[in-house]
Amino acid sequence: MNREKVQIFDTTLRDGEQVPGCKLDTNQKLLIANRLDEMGVDIIEAGFPVSSPGDFLSVKEISKIVKNATVCGLTRAVKNDIDVAAEALKFAKKPRIHTGIGTSDSHIIHKLQTTRADIIDRVKFAVSHAKSYVEDVEFYAEDAGRTANDFLARVCEEAIKSGATVLNIPDTTGYCLPEEYGAKIKYLRENVKGIENVILSCHCHNDLGMATANSIAGAVNGARQIECTINGIGERAGNTALEEVVMIFKQHPYLNLYTDIDSKQLNEMSRLVSDSMGMIVQPNKAIVGANAFAHSSGIHQDGVIKNRSTYEIMDPLDVGVNESSIVLTARSGRAALAYRAKKVGYELSKVQLDLVYFEFLRFADIKKEVLDDDIHQIIEVCNIQSEL
Ligand code: KIV
Ligand code: ZN
Repeated sequence: MNREKVQIFDTTLRDGEQVPGCKLDTNQKLLIANRLDEMGVDIIEAGFPVSSPGDFLSVKEISKIVKNATVCGLTRAVKNDIDVAAEALKFAKKPRIHTGIGTSDSHIIHKLQTTRADIIDRVKFAVSHAKSYVEDVEFYAEDAGRTANDFLARVCEEAIKSGATVLNIPDTTGYCLPEEYGAKIKYLRENVKGIENVILSCHCHNDLGMATANSIAGAVNGARQIECTINGIGERAGNTALEEVVMIFKQHPYLNLYTDIDSKQLNEMSRLVSDSMGMIVQPNKAIVGANAFAHSSGIHQDGVIKNRSTYEIMDPLDVGVNESSIVLTARSGRAALAYRAKKVGYELSKVQLDLVYFEFLRFADIKKEVLDDDIHQIIEVCNIQSEL
């Protein structure tokens, strides 16, 4: 079976930057956009041009420097938004306008205070107006996750008829279960006329911790674009994490799906975004967290030292981390201590190891983590340095 590509649409600079306190200036955005382009991202959502003069400028400048990726600007289904986005994108080699509107009853009744018929009219207008500027128009059905499938299918059909090239099916509130989200994508594939001519896109939020699982379910059911951010940053609990999607396809080749992302750049990219935004990556974050390849309990350390694959399902080098770490704590065993002692220059005999291990535990019960300098000190205390 042929492997099929899933396009990576990065929205770190738009949905990601909506996080309070994460605002970037244009130079920081240019640096990140350039690195995303180099890493192999297919579409960079550079911003929401009508939202502020600064965002307009950023989208315009990013459009000038990006070499390979499509550059995308977000709009509401509003004429002026679309006009401003088209202006900001005019220097892009491959421009895309991303326009849309809420389609769930909750959005229609409470936020937009209108009717389904009016939504359909606005969809037709927004997509065709965007199409008058650019060939590549992505339509989003905001809160598609909670939109009735039959109405969503109607909306999608109108967007296709009006010229949309990509249909974004956002689980805006992070509500869906993977099975449910996957079934929604399948339903659209089976019930929307002309669907074979467009790309279906997953845009999942992480309110229940299922953004990545939902995006994968979408792709397994036929979506061929995933919208995501570096480190999974974004509104509230965040978006699908780019690094997770990339590594899931890499580690599960039987899915027959792949991305063009150079995974070796993931760790550095994560740091760049975290440092630029001042947004700390949780240590246990999948793929890019400080502990993602760190082993601290004795049982795990013994297994990893004997064979890395016992407790690691991917090679740290594949995500740009030089090696896994064996962290010494009071939960560590002799194997880990001997391993780390050897790394700092001590080849301990069994008798010596017993002696040092006893002292090590006393030390580790006081200190959270035993570092290389501490190992020297412990060996000195044990008075066996001269024998080594
Ligand atoms: O979550 C969402 O619905 C969005 C849209 C604006 C694409 O971010
Ligand atoms: Zn979003």
